[in-house]
Amino acid sequence: FKLLVINGPNLNMLGKREPEKYGLHTLGEIVSELTTAAEGLNVQLSHFQSNSEQALIERIHDAWQAVDYIIINPAAFTHTSVALRDALLSVDIPFFEVHLSNVHAREAFRHHSYFSDVAQGVICGLGAMGYHAALNAAVSRLQNSN
Ligand code: DQA
Repeated sequence: FKLLVINGPNLNMLGKREPEKYGLHTLGEIVSELTTAAEGLNVQLSHFQSNSEQALIERIHDAWQAVDYIIINPAAFTHTSVALRDALLSVDIPFFEVHLSNVHAREAFRHHSYFSDVAQGVICGLGAMGYHAALNAAVSRLQNSN
């Protein structure tokens, strides 16, 4: 299976950025652990992070018919981006939405997501473990659909 992990704006700052909310792990560490876990599951994992909405949209378009499942943390675009939501719908690839922090325990403007109603599942508040839960769930979904 081919899985694409997408991380949105400011997640390149993980480890330095508000560690009490997002933890001390860098994005590099999270992705390298996730890649190791994916190899054990016979999954080809690609990762893309960008601070640019345009670049994220174009990466999703490139995934059309090339990726089986997407795991996305849209970061702040979660709460703002109809365009990123539409990009995911346009390629018709099932996806899980992941957030490191529990967005529902935070400011009201983080309670709404443009992704949750079209995601196959939503994980928040588990920190980096959320990406691993999403990886395992995606593989099990893909295996059961074959
Ligand atoms: C986040 C939560 C968002 O509200 C925030 O803008 C982020 C990170 C998370 O992973 O907890 O940048 O998506």
